[in-house]
Amino acid sequence: MRGIVFRGGVGVPVRVRTHFLDFPRADVTLRRHTPMDYSYGAAAALPQGRRRTGGHAAVRVFSGVQPTGNLHIGNYLGAIARFVRLQGQAECLFCVVDLHALTVPRQPAALCADTLGVAALYLACGIDPARAIVFVQSHVAEHAELAWLLGCVTGFGELRRMTQFKDKSARAGEGEGVNLGLFAYPVLMAADILLYRSTAVPVGDDQRQHLELTRDLAERFNARFGECFPLPEPLIGETGARIMSLQNPGEKMSKSTEDPMSRIDLLDTPDAVAAKCRRAVTDSGREVRYDREAKPAVSNLLEIFTLVSGEPVAALEARYGDRGYGAFKAGLAEAVNEALAPIQARYRDLEAAPDHLAEVLAGGAGRARSLACPVMADVRRRVGLTAAR
Ligand code: TYM
Repeated sequence: MRGIVFRGGVGVPVRVRTHFLDFPRADVTLRRHTPMDYSYGAAAALPQGRRRTGGHAAVRVFSGVQPTGNLHIGNYLGAIARFVRLQGQAECLFCVVDLHALTVPRQPAALCADTLGVAALYLACGIDPARAIVFVQSHVAEHAELAWLLGCVTGFGELRRMTQFKDKSARAGEGEGVNLGLFAYPVLMAADILLYRSTAVPVGDDQRQHLELTRDLAERFNARFGECFPLPEPLIGETGARIMSLQNPGEKMSKSTEDPMSRIDLLDTPDAVAAKCRRAVTDSGREVRYDREAKPAVSNLLEIFTLVSGEPVAALEARYGDRGYGAFKAGLAEAVNEALAPIQARYRDLEAAPDHLAEVLAGGAGRARSLACPVMADVRRRVGLTAAR
């Protein structure tokens, strides 16, 4: 078993299986030679961005996760596992975007706990604060300030067109549930990214439209106020970017779906994972075969299986093809549990050491601020805000 030993000084070192994380050194190409090849990730494939003044890194990666409920395996495969692979290849900032989580009503204590929970999961999944800046969005006040300025170059119609806003506001109803924050959410997201002059943003497929808006806003700002921001490239994997619900392969796996059987949470017990895999919907017939059109449910399970186990889809099809869905689902549950066990062990260690996590986040916020402050000073000057003396 290949693996890495976490550094960071908390508890007993935990060995984490990394064949699916592919923790590369900076000089290692990330190509996986499976039918579901991770399509991006090689340092060479990272966009170069624009030349920057002030000696900034050529490639700067930014991404964030909202602290809204437990993270699931879609968040992991579509985003966090890919963050882990990027650290060391480029300057990376990984943020817990707590201000975004306020766009839906939250209990203050739950928000606070979820924020620390996501930060702990970042580390438990393998993000190394020595190689990436890990921080909480609200600890860097400039995010909200830049969001205001970008909001002043954003059209009302642009925001109305955002599909996530349409979906979420339809779910919340037109009453009190829909607030200005939810409407302006994509502007804050653009600010998160542009504040660091980020050039690459690893996200799942559902964030594609938000990234397009970010690029539009950067372009518009540059046109009005001079070249200020590079246009960030979305890094969306060919696989894992849209893990679907276990109960409905036509819907993406989501934290906000009420039915817990629809998703595998990263902190689920082995029994819960086994039950969820067992109860996952399947397609007609009994053959285990990858075919997105004809067999969307089984293909989704195969995608999860290959990504967590590192085994090529063809090998899984050969092993389970005619053994029926029962054996396939049992194998899937085992593979998922094997992948989650070290993450959960590390998470428990971090839970037992809250001071360590607080230190990591304080350090991350300091480093993030030192990058954000000069950009914000430049932005203020460009738009004509007077400097405080
Ligand atoms: P959030 O918190 O909903 O999701 C975190 C990341 O997980 C990805 N993801 C998925 N990937 C594959 N399959 C799924 N079923 C699945 N569900 C979620 C998301 O695409 C995301 O990458 N708006 C963002 C948070 C954010 C952000 C940012 C991201 C705020 N500011 C700046 C990047 C850069 C969101 O709601 O992610």
